[in-house]
Amino acid sequence: MKNKILIKSNKKKFYHKLINNGITYNNKPLNRYSKNNYNVGGYMSEKKIAQLDTLKKQINSIKNCELKKNATNIVFSDGNPSSKIMIIGEGPGANEDKEGKPFVGRAGKLLDKMLSSIKLNRNNVYISNVVNFRPPMNRRPTEEEIKRYLPFLIKHIELINPKILFLLGSTALNALIGNEVVISKARGKWVNKKIGVVNPEIISSFHPAFLMRQPDQKKYAWEDLKMIKKKISELKIKLNG
Ligand code: URA
Repeated sequence: MKNKILIKSNKKKFYHKLINNGITYNNKPLNRYSKNNYNVGGYMSEKKIAQLDTLKKQINSIKNCELKKNATNIVFSDGNPSSKIMIIGEGPGANEDKEGKPFVGRAGKLLDKMLSSIKLNRNNVYISNVVNFRPPMNRRPTEEEIKRYLPFLIKHIELINPKILFLLGSTALNALIGNEVVISKARGKWVNKKIGVVNPEIISSFHPAFLMRQPDQKKYAWEDLKMIKKKISELKIKLNG
């Protein structure tokens, strides 16, 4: 009898593993229509999935763009679109262009380490960039390019509607806060600014690629990360993953 129960429970465990117990055990309805990998854990509305898909298609149909012409893949986002923490980098590099995902190269590895130091990871944050195609030779996107992609970025932020917006480096800072600020002065300060129709708490810090070149600046990035951790707790943001 005991053996029978044991076999049954092992079978059950195997079954749940097979069909992804994380999804099975939450009591939110599953969305089975996601063509992309947006729907981490089945939490997202079909409307939001469709809106993100539409935005991605709109960006992908941009015309006469030097960035798109030279790129292999669009780099739209990674992470959990239901997250209340959104991270914005500058633009894809070679690895990102190849894989179609932001922050998968060396800077991405450092970003993952930075995030994990405050218990964040790609299941509980959402990541995108100022521009969605790799600038040739990894150059900084021009002012004109940034302006062209800004409405897409604002729409993206509106769709995610984060409580915390974390800007990595001067390109993201200048694109969203303004050209009169410099990263060395603006980092580590909370800014209140409406982005489109949403009102996230915004903080900036050094870009991981810069930190790889200037490791002595990591201590400042650590201060900024601790501020984010504190804000997560103040805002009672629930982290999954
Ligand atoms: N640097 C960025 O700003 N974004 C990426 O996606 C990768 C590197």
